Amino acid sequence: MITEYNIALRNVGKINPASIQDYMDRGGYEALKKALQSPSEKVVHDITKSGLRGRGGAGFSTGLKKKYTSQASCVLLECMRYIVCNADEGEPGTFKDRIIMEGDPHLLVEGMVIAAYGVGAERGYIYIRGEYHQSITMIRNALAHAHVHGFLGNNILGSGFSLDIEIKLGAGSYLCGEELTLLESLEGKRGYPRIKPPFPAESGLFGKPTLINNVETLSHIPTIMINGARWYRQLGTETSPGTKIFTISGDVKNPGYAEVEMGVSLSDLIYRVAGGMKDERPFKAALLGGAAGTFVPESLLDVSMDFDALKEKGAVLGSGAVIVMCNDQSILMMLDSILRFFEHESCGKCVPCRVGTKQLVDLLEKLKGADDKRSDHIDALVYQSELMAKTALCPLGQSPVLAINSAVRYFRDELETTQISQSRCR
Ligand SMILES: Cc1cc2nc3c(=O)[nH]c(=O)nc-3n(C[C@H](O)[C@H](O)[C@H](O)COP(=O)(O)O)c2cc1C
Ligand code: SF4
Repeated sequence: MITEYNIALRNVGKINPASIQDYMDRGGYEALKKALQSPSEKVVHDITKSGLRGRGGAGFSTGLKKKYTSQASCVLLECMRYIVCNADEGEPGTFKDRIIMEGDPHLLVEGMVIAAYGVGAERGYIYIRGEYHQSITMIRNALAHAHVHGFLGNNILGSGFSLDIEIKLGAGSYLCGEELTLLESLEGKRGYPRIKPPFPAESGLFGKPTLINNVETLSHIPTIMINGARWYRQLGTETSPGTKIFTISGDVKNPGYAEVEMGVSLSDLIYRVAGGMKDERPFKAALLGGAAGTFVPESLLDVSMDFDALKEKGAVLGSGAVIVMCNDQSILMMLDSILRFFEHESCGKCVPCRVGTKQLVDLLEKLKGADDKRSDHIDALVYQSELMAKTALCPLGQSPVLAINSAVRYFRDELETTQISQSRCR
């Protein structure tokens, strides 16, 4: 039996998400009251001690980000800090942030206000994927009600701390989910990435210290404030504490989402949480982390689903997307759609990615048609993607190597020999 936890999903399906009263009846905004009674440094300290790591993909320490943002010095006399919530959710196979925003929008708002208090941010933005109509409606409603109840705006709950949060909409660019590109977009500029460093904690939105976190990450903060860092650390693994929402799709009986402890095995996610393989077909592979993710084969079914265990195996946890493939699915076809996706989403700013993503698609096309020289085409794909990983300007161009290398590592025989066939699992 797998225990499902309720931290980020604690009220989803249990309250009317449009009602702030429902949220408050279940302890909502108590964490904010508690946080505002402590010095802001304590909030940052508690989050750091909890070991919470970013749920947007990279897994960076949330506490450290807050520390850097709050400590960043200001160039101008009047120091403005920003908080930005990344709700762009563009990674294929990922739909966890939408569940939170649609089902429990106040949890995100409360987490964001607490985080803003921690770093001293007076202005916040939630950058929501434009197609997420229901999320936008729910968050807009939650912000308005939070204002009326004094949880947002001037002098929040008489604490002297003030914060306003605005919604901004993404316009469908995958790259605009990348934090620095997102900041460009927020500033009204074209969605081109910036060079790092400086990092947003130092120089972010409009050049000011900016804390940027994912929806799921921020939604953990109220529970950490109430239950404490030690309680939180009891969940998950030593280096990846807490819970994670996994979104499971593909050839499983019950596609959907679940919030479980970090460190759950891939096998438990597929066979217990998602009810097993569709039509009892044999498992072939899972693509973990979406398009910017890695394939894992049957021999890794017992792998612990946490940041570090997966990294040790050359895989990534990423956003928590788990796309399951039965034995009739073609790795080549999946790779084809991943590479076409990157070609489509490349912003074209740098040559290695603008030209490289196209070359990868062309190479795969050759591989699909080749009877001989398949091995050469595979080697060329690896070479090209590794070159891009070293030379592309931003993480988008550095990502195709993940899927390519993992496909070649575990499924080279299939890539070398198998003809492309249509899936029969649908
Ligand atoms: C191409 C690309 C797209 C990304 N898209 C998203 C996204 O849609 N949502 C998200 O939260 N993070 C996304 N990220 C990760 C962000 O850059 C960043 O790591 C995240 O917002 C940090 O928040 P966290 O520390 O809470 O995870 C993306 C990264 C890349 C390279
Ligand atoms: S790596 Fe790709 S997405 Fe990133 S700047 Fe270069 S062209 Fe644009």
